[in-house]
Amino acid sequence: MTGRVVIVTGANSGIGFEVARHLCEGGNDVVLACRSEEKGKAAVEKILAQNPNALATFMQLDLEDLSSVRKFVEDFHSTGKELHVLVNNAGMSYAFKDKTRRFTKDNFEMTMGINHLGPFLLTHLLLDDLKKTAEEGEDGEARIINVTSSMHDLSVRTNRSNNVQPLDMENFFLDKPSTYSGIQAYKNSKLAQILFTYELARKLEGSKVTVNCVCPGFIPKTGLVRHNSSATRFMVRHVLNPVFKVMKITRSLDQGSKAVVDVATNDKLKGVSGKYFSDMQEKTSSEESLKDDLQKSLYKLSARYCHLDGYEPLDAPEPPPPEEVVKTKSKKGKANKDEKQEAGASGEGEEDKGESSKDEAEAKVEDNKEIKFIDEDEKQVEKENQEKTEEVTEKNDEKKTDSVEDSGKEQTETVEEPVKEIKEKVEEEIKKVDVDTPIQQVPEIAAQ
Ligand SMILES: NC(=O)c1ccc[n+]([C@@H]2O[C@H](COP(=O)([O-])OP(=O)(O)OC[C@H]3O[C@@H](n4cnc5c(N)ncnc54)[C@H](OP(=O)(O)O)[C@@H]3O)[C@@H](O)[C@H]2O)c1
Repeated sequence: MTGRVVIVTGANSGIGFEVARHLCEGGNDVVLACRSEEKGKAAVEKILAQNPNALATFMQLDLEDLSSVRKFVEDFHSTGKELHVLVNNAGMSYAFKDKTRRFTKDNFEMTMGINHLGPFLLTHLLLDDLKKTAEEGEDGEARIINVTSSMHDLSVRTNRSNNVQPLDMENFFLDKPSTYSGIQAYKNSKLAQILFTYELARKLEGSKVTVNCVCPGFIPKTGLVRHNSSATRFMVRHVLNPVFKVMKITRSLDQGSKAVVDVATNDKLKGVSGKYFSDMQEKTSSEESLKDDLQKSLYKLSARYCHLDGYEPLDAPEPPPPEEVVKTKSKKGKANKDEKQEAGASGEGEEDKGESSKDEAEAKVEDNKEIKFIDEDEKQVEKENQEKTEEVTEKNDEKKTDSVEDSGKEQTETVEEPVKEIKEKVEEEIKKVDVDTPIQQVPEIAAQ
């Protein structure tokens, strides 16, 4: 498939950036729909630097705000372009044990808002464009791809060990006491994308517009773990990733993005709709996702929250009063500490003071360096695969010594990791993974 107009959301980093790059290489006209103008334009420049003939443009889209989604569609319409493919890739996750709910501009629980409701509205506002292209264009088709995750499945080990519950339509934003956690919200949002895919496929029957969802596989090197403590990020990216790579559990950015590009462009998938793909193959999604009644009720509720024509509009409840938010925020420090302990760091004593703000500062620095960081990671992947855990921990020892000598300089994440506890954590995580576990059964952020 070449010469098509494709919108890729969240295309400034991770899987989305690679998807956009591959699609540009294939001669398509790619709109990088990103919330940050700076990051979006930097991503376009990077694609153009590698491929000066690429048709890549940035357009602003913040899925956390439905008015931004509407504005994006207006801006897209003003370009006069047709639309052949929409890739709903953008997504986020809070630390799995995080108990602090956050809200979008429309008072949606943040994870559900960004991962499902924003893309739900975006898709509907672009449906007429896709239908028109499918009817009038040479291809006789148009496609929607929702990038979801094996984490939608309750039977995945990480969901089971974190006591993740089925989606409760009466508690859609997890506002009932003690029901919210980062992992519960992520699982619900990824399930919602699949339920939406199946119901929309039914509604689009006969329209020549297809909709499918795809799990790109476990790719620890993306920005998805950015909301985790520095200890967890270190563990996932630099300790577990090399080990899991050797065990062939993880996928590279290239593999994950090609899995998405395949569903978006493979001629063999013309006319295929309402399917779940993983590792370039059609797979059966979770039992929960196959429930017709849940697909329908999820679709209806989403349509009401997004104020779609033909549905009775519904507004999300007001978020809890600020006191409660402040109270739960102060718990975040504890959550980080717990997480850190779980990830194998000491999490005690002087180092813990101000950990939360330090994490936020690190996350900001990391966000700004996102594209560069991932590039560097990718270059190192092969090298890292050869490294043994012992070599990683040896480096930690060296860095720890350096930083003691030079305490005024910025500390690296590795400094915080006691070597013995990292080793124990790695051994613990390895024990949890069945070597023959298929990729769709493996959680993407195993360290959480
Ligand atoms: N990595 C994995 O192992 C894995 C496995 C299964 C599924 N997935 C899915 O793959 C997709 C891409 O994730 P990734 O791993 O590539 O993570 P990533 O590097 O963090 O990329 C996520 C992208 O989504 C964007 N985004 C976040 N919030 C947004 C918002 N409010 N509006 C618009 N864009 C927003 C981010 O933009 P900013 O940079 O501005 O935040 C970023 O460009 C996600 O849907 C994720 O759930 C990932």
